[in-house]
Amino acid sequence: MDHYNRYKVQTKDNQLMDYEEKTKTFDWSQVEKSFSWNETGKVNIAFEAIDKHCESNKKNKIALMYSDSIRKEAYTYQALKEHSNRMGNVFRDIGIRKGDRIFIFMPRVPELYFSFLGALKIGAIVGPLFEAFMEEAVKDRLADSEATMLITTPELLKRVPLHELPHLKHILLYGENIEVKSGFYDLNAEWQQASPQLKIEWMNLDDPMLIHYTSGSTGKPKGVLHVHRAMIQQYQTGKWVLDLKEDDIYWCTADPGWVTGTSYGIFAPWLNGVTNVIRGGRFSPEDWYKTLEKNKISVWYSAPTAFRMLMAAGEQIVKQYDLSTVRHILSVGEPLNPEVVRWGLETYGKRIHDNWWMTETGSILIANYPQMEIRAGSMGKPIPGIHAAIIDDDGTELPPYTMGNLAIRTPWPSMMRQIWKNEEKYKAYFRISGWYLSGDSAYIDDDGYFWFQGRLDDVINTSGERVGPFEVESKLVEHPAVAEAGVIGKPDPIRGQIIKAFISLRQGYFESEELKEEIQTYIKHGLAAHAVPREIEFKDKLPKTRSGKIMRRVLKSWELGLPTGDLSTMED
Ligand code: WTA
Repeated sequence: MDHYNRYKVQTKDNQLMDYEEKTKTFDWSQVEKSFSWNETGKVNIAFEAIDKHCESNKKNKIALMYSDSIRKEAYTYQALKEHSNRMGNVFRDIGIRKGDRIFIFMPRVPELYFSFLGALKIGAIVGPLFEAFMEEAVKDRLADSEATMLITTPELLKRVPLHELPHLKHILLYGENIEVKSGFYDLNAEWQQASPQLKIEWMNLDDPMLIHYTSGSTGKPKGVLHVHRAMIQQYQTGKWVLDLKEDDIYWCTADPGWVTGTSYGIFAPWLNGVTNVIRGGRFSPEDWYKTLEKNKISVWYSAPTAFRMLMAAGEQIVKQYDLSTVRHILSVGEPLNPEVVRWGLETYGKRIHDNWWMTETGSILIANYPQMEIRAGSMGKPIPGIHAAIIDDDGTELPPYTMGNLAIRTPWPSMMRQIWKNEEKYKAYFRISGWYLSGDSAYIDDDGYFWFQGRLDDVINTSGERVGPFEVESKLVEHPAVAEAGVIGKPDPIRGQIIKAFISLRQGYFESEELKEEIQTYIKHGLAAHAVPREIEFKDKLPKTRSGKIMRRVLKSWELGLPTGDLSTMED
């Protein structure tokens, strides 16, 4: 274990806030009092995030500041309220009711946010999809969730296999010159003429609101279901961890297809009533620094892969921009390398605050708080109201510096409530009574800081995207040349991990560079660009268990030159 390699990055005053005290006295019911639920017994997260502020002096405050290479727009809380009401009316008139699934598969533009909020307001369950998804990925998610409505663009619609999706009845197209036929609607025409008054669907705290599909180590992606109650923790972590204050201008760089882009790209900032910056388009260092400068951003939430790319772009470029408004920087998604923290401190004059959570946890659970001494390379400490521990397979809490399963005492407000239509997979997370098992391996130091070690299973985390090896393998095997495929994550300095595929070929096929490229293109078009194996190695035979499971850990140990461990279950 290399905890001796860690080093400290001190805060100026090294003040530990009232963390220890809070941890003893805090309980979540104190936060519930901030919401209408406390008085009426009913709630709606979109109302709390947007409409509530319109009843105060925040009405004319900028809620959304949007820019891409073409558009540059600002919307007040009042405008967001009205636009999302219009969307809600459109969806309801088409026939969407509480609990129905509306999926959103479109680029990051303001209309995405209006429709997201509108769908929540009428009690629908929203399923946001990455714009980069290809046909197979889109189909799996729409089919599994039995979504009845899809909001997309004419361009992206080409990746939706409509004939294979019998539940999907309504397609709302966002774009220009939309041709309207049965079951199809012109989103812009519809919402712009809809009424800005809406009867909000009042929900119970534990009614569903959002599905995020995420990958596991086996099987298809799973639909992680969240409920309106999540707002309690999204709101509170917005205060404690993002350090959001009244006048903050906040930028979360994540896409809403990823949980960070909803919990912290939509809910936390708006529940806290700050100005939320959304940037459309792709990453470039110039563009990002310009976004920080032009919008006078004060709180910036991003991911290690982005910080590594910015670090690769160098210090020189940073000097061309005025980043003096930036007060607080945060990171999530994969381990944040100590070098990046050190570089951030030297270059931005700010520490990057790592924090840990998962799609399944709904919001931040472990964090380096703004006020506490941060330890580069550590995820920080559990927030008040959360009991995290390292446990063994019997549920016994392990002492400091012992690696084990990172587990959380159940429940907490933003915890997932279901794996969509898959009770068995849901239960697997809670198989040790009283605990949620993250599947991450970690240890705690003497002072209670958590240190991430890796995934206990084989899920690959490449540039912050979780990719299940199985999903890639299944697609690879569909290629005519591929007999079998085993996919692993290989450590990579920029992307965290890259995908490496071991492939055995069918008879009559022979390895070549062309074939490698052809297979890569096949994955890119069939699954997603981020799922492409950057490395492919051909093998005569793959290591398998007797029951036929490909042994990824053996592939991994070959790749990394490590001992292969127990091979008793391996076939001859
Ligand atoms: C990993 C992201 C190390 C971890 C919000 C976790 C991290 C998975 C960190 C969840 C971190 C996330 N340090 N690893 N600070 N944050 N991870 O569902 O393996 O996309 O289980 O949610 O990413 O990824 P997900």
